[in-house]
Amino acid sequence: MPASAALAAAKSLPATDVLVVPIVPQGRGVDLAGPTLALNAAGRRRLLELLGALKATGKRGEIVRVAGVPGVSVIAALGLGARSDGTWDGEALRRSAGDVARALAGTRRVAFALPSDSPSEVTALMTGSLLGAYSFDLYKGLTGKDATKPVRAFTFLVGDPKDPELRAVLREVTILAAAIHATRDLVNTPPGHLPPAGLAAAAVAAAEGLPLSVEVLDEKALARGGYGGILAVGQGSANPPRLIRMTYRPEGAVAHLAFVGKGITFDTGGISIKPAAKMDAMKSDMAGAAAVLHATVAIAQLGLPVSITTYAASAENMPSGTAQRPGDVITMYGGRTVEVLNTDAEGRLVLADALVRAAEDAPDSIIDVATLTGAQVVALGERISAIMSNDDAFRDSVFESSRRAGEAMWPMPLPDDLRSSLDTPWADITNIGNRSGGMLTAGVFLREFVAPSMKWAHLDIAGPSHNDGSPYGDVPKGGTGASVRTLVQMAKDAAAK
Ligand code: BES
Ligand code: MN
Ligand code: ZN
Repeated sequence: MPASAALAAAKSLPATDVLVVPIVPQGRGVDLAGPTLALNAAGRRRLLELLGALKATGKRGEIVRVAGVPGVSVIAALGLGARSDGTWDGEALRRSAGDVARALAGTRRVAFALPSDSPSEVTALMTGSLLGAYSFDLYKGLTGKDATKPVRAFTFLVGDPKDPELRAVLREVTILAAAIHATRDLVNTPPGHLPPAGLAAAAVAAAEGLPLSVEVLDEKALARGGYGGILAVGQGSANPPRLIRMTYRPEGAVAHLAFVGKGITFDTGGISIKPAAKMDAMKSDMAGAAAVLHATVAIAQLGLPVSITTYAASAENMPSGTAQRPGDVITMYGGRTVEVLNTDAEGRLVLADALVRAAEDAPDSIIDVATLTGAQVVALGERISAIMSNDDAFRDSVFESSRRAGEAMWPMPLPDDLRSSLDTPWADITNIGNRSGGMLTAGVFLREFVAPSMKWAHLDIAGPSHNDGSPYGDVPKGGTGASVRTLVQMAKDAAAK
């Protein structure tokens, strides 16, 4: 459960444990970033004196705690850095708010004196606060009771808390933050606690009470339907595969988007087994599925007038006596055959079935989200996702949506000449090809399962979906919720067209 969020008038300080006051560099010292009406003139003066004595700089992300300002027990002064061109970049604001939310873990109630009523600045600071206040301690046993809890309630102080635009921002950020928290929770859940059937149950639970339908194909239904890719990947596991289909059909829909997510609940590599080191991180191999499901939930909660059809293709990739072997030829949904040369290139197999199935719903476009390749991390690092597409204009529009949503993504090509590296005498295509540019090879494989007339984009989120390092800004350790904001933004942009 994310922290609660409310708006209140800046001039009356609500009951709070800590007041966050944004500051900026000013001369050799600092100044308040906004009017800070929650403090009276004497309080503001006293705060600046104390910050001066403490040598605060106002640099982005700086946090200085101050006590002794009349009327408020503790103030956390938060550096926003200098405004460039009269504004802050949304990313910087979101990260700073995330920093302060994390630093204040253990505090129940936080009031945040927003520096302006600009909807974009309010959005960034609210988003950062709610996303920074995250923890996952469900599986803490005896030590969990002592864990520092994230902030429970934020009150954002603004000029006019009744302003309809700010109320809309509050509603939207609250819904998005809940979707991102839920995505992170699924990614962080230990793989033994989240088999494909568990992911399906989570989708059903998330849809409850919302205008969403969920259908789940179990292994028998998958066999009847001819979903050879999902079945082949799942056949080595005692936990059978699932194809989850979630639909949202609002009245008066102006567009129809299909989302497809990779839902490998654990990726050992199968018979082409991975090395032991860091294999635990492969519990996050269902991050694409979690993101598309919870983005769909958010779109339904927002009531956007866009139909959504979402598929989560879920299997556990295990080595066993029943597992598929390198050299096996499988028949995919729709009839194409694939020679499986490496069982660790399993994501593309489950996605291919789901892409072919998604096209049958005749959406305007299909976007898939997947922790697909280690090569993505090599190419773009751990914080930037890749966008590939069979249509340059569509790829650019996804890129634009990602920018508006404040997510780091970058366009990547799908070179035609990589296709021949997937040729085989034994089937229509193999599942591994050129190793150099392996992210693009995977995209070229997927493209074979989409008609050229269908607008399709592929997001490889292998790096950004999971933070193995320390928390930073609004991003915790573990699952991040990468791509949820972009998917929801795509629906918003489709609705606005
Ligand atoms: N799930 C992995 C990709 C991955 C790697 C995600 C690192 C997150 C972090 C995927 O199924 C995989 O194993 N891909 C192989 C493909 C190869 C066999 C062509 C890879 O990237 O090594
Ligand atoms: Mn794999
Ligand atoms: Zn995988």
